Amino acid sequence: ANDNESAEQRLKEVCELLQSSIGYYDWVGFYFANEAEKTLHLKAFAGEPTDHTVIPFGKGICGQVAVSNKNFVVPDVKAQDNYIACSITVKSEIVIPLFKDGKNIGQIDIDSHVEDPFSPEDERFLEWVNEEVAKIL
Ligand code: SME
Repeated sequence: ANDNESAEQRLKEVCELLQSSIGYYDWVGFYFANEAEKTLHLKAFAGEPTDHTVIPFGKGICGQVAVSNKNFVVPDVKAQDNYIACSITVKSEIVIPLFKDGKNIGQIDIDSHVEDPFSPEDERFLEWVNEEVAKIL
């Protein structure tokens, strides 16, 4: 379970499953923190490739979650000033921190082409996904 290659492969499968089975999950990725560098690094994703594979803590929705340790639901990305645009087709985003042994080690990030699609059910569901993922890391 601690083999890096197989963990990365399984993360990719989780991304692909979520992206293909939930219509409004258009891009799904996992970022993990490098605490020394204070940066997030994209480890697995499904959807269009992004230029933003490294994100400094504090920058964008992802970077803010790295420091807040809190879920961040963005119904309308145009209303955010601290936002990193990956694609003009993205209308909304949800980022849920991933905790291992109580520590915020990364996050799941989902972009949607739909405006305001994320409900508290998505938050509970993705918190559960992250708990399951933490077990394979
Ligand atoms: N929009 C994110 C950047 C990552 S892309 O969505 C893949 C942000 O503002 O942090």
